[in-house]
Amino acid sequence: MAITTPGTRPANPRFSSGPCAKPPTWTLDALADAPLGRSHRAAVGKDKLKAAIETTREVLGVPADYKIGIVPASDTGAYEMAMWSMLGERPAQMVAWESFGAGWVTDAVKQLKIEAETITAEYGEIVDFTTLDFDKDVCFTWNGTTSGVRLPNGDAIPADRAGLTLCDATSAAFAMDLPWDKLDVTTFSWQKVLGGEAAHGILILSPRAVERLESYTPAWPLPKIFRLTKGGKLIDGIFTGATINTPSMLCVEDYLFALDWAKSVGGLKGLIARADANAKAVWDFCDANDWIDNLAVDPATRSNTSVCLKFTDARITDGAAFAKAVAKRLEAEGIALDIGAYRDAPAGLRIWCGGTVETSDIEAMLPWLAWAFETEIEAQKAAA
Ligand SMILES: Cc1ncc(COP(=O)(O)O)c(C=O)c1O
Repeated sequence: MAITTPGTRPANPRFSSGPCAKPPTWTLDALADAPLGRSHRAAVGKDKLKAAIETTREVLGVPADYKIGIVPASDTGAYEMAMWSMLGERPAQMVAWESFGAGWVTDAVKQLKIEAETITAEYGEIVDFTTLDFDKDVCFTWNGTTSGVRLPNGDAIPADRAGLTLCDATSAAFAMDLPWDKLDVTTFSWQKVLGGEAAHGILILSPRAVERLESYTPAWPLPKIFRLTKGGKLIDGIFTGATINTPSMLCVEDYLFALDWAKSVGGLKGLIARADANAKAVWDFCDANDWIDNLAVDPATRSNTSVCLKFTDARITDGAAFAKAVAKRLEAEGIALDIGAYRDAPAGLRIWCGGTVETSDIEAMLPWLAWAFETEIEAQKAAA
């Protein structure tokens, strides 16, 4: 069978789920104003860090009485800092439906060894939040980056809960509406939806999270890198730009650029619309082709950032090898980089659809996906 080679190529083949594509207008020259070789505690450095915090608040619509801090070690650092500082005061429910959520379960159960119940769903499914007990602390990941399954909303989280909600929102922030009144701890990394650099995390605390920090001391020791309080009081400096240790001012400049770009495309609303349009292009492609499908079972839970796909063609003999071969063909052609499913996830593809990706690039890439699929089916036949 003759397989047609598509005529159009994506201008940018970067569809990785992290680090994600830079904003389309990004250039290295855009970082020329970074105060390199200067102290981050000098006025120039502090001002940049403060601007990063306040612009984050503005773009994400974080309430004025919530604290926003820049912390070490990316999203992992931010989330573990929160777990180590706040959990153990009461029992917890650890909720997971893919590998990153599962990592936080391991932290609570095997490392912190707190009283915790584990509630999980398989890849493609989600946990029913109406069954959870929010008088306990509840830890979860808003968008499961490795399964492409997200919480559609926070409606099941009661406003008058007694426990805290700890939300890993790293592949959700800047692409999905986050209900701040339902979230006590929210974390993300710059390297995800805004296409920033890795290694810096953002930690957002509700007034109730601050209250927990100031009224509860965990039974275990805390390294300096995790310490958010001193003498029973929140270290306020962390939330105004006086970071715990030294940040990269080049990464800060890069994040400020990304925030400015976000504002130029309409802020959060604009970013959500861009991600929605990208994801819809992929979903429509799945609807039009009977050999590929979304891994998310319930359409209401489909991610608009990390869109995870599975091959469903009965002719495929080895699902994992087939998916890898398709991803490899697209990479070799320079059409799509880094779109293989996450190592712990079911075999398939994962296409990043966050706002820094152009819809025209997704649309140019999809015919090539069909080309790679058909080419691989033929290759499999020839090898049999
Ligand atoms: C949901 C989720 N949590 C945590 C992480 C880890 O992020 P980082 O490497 O920025 O710490 C990732 C990275 O992909 C993720 O998707």
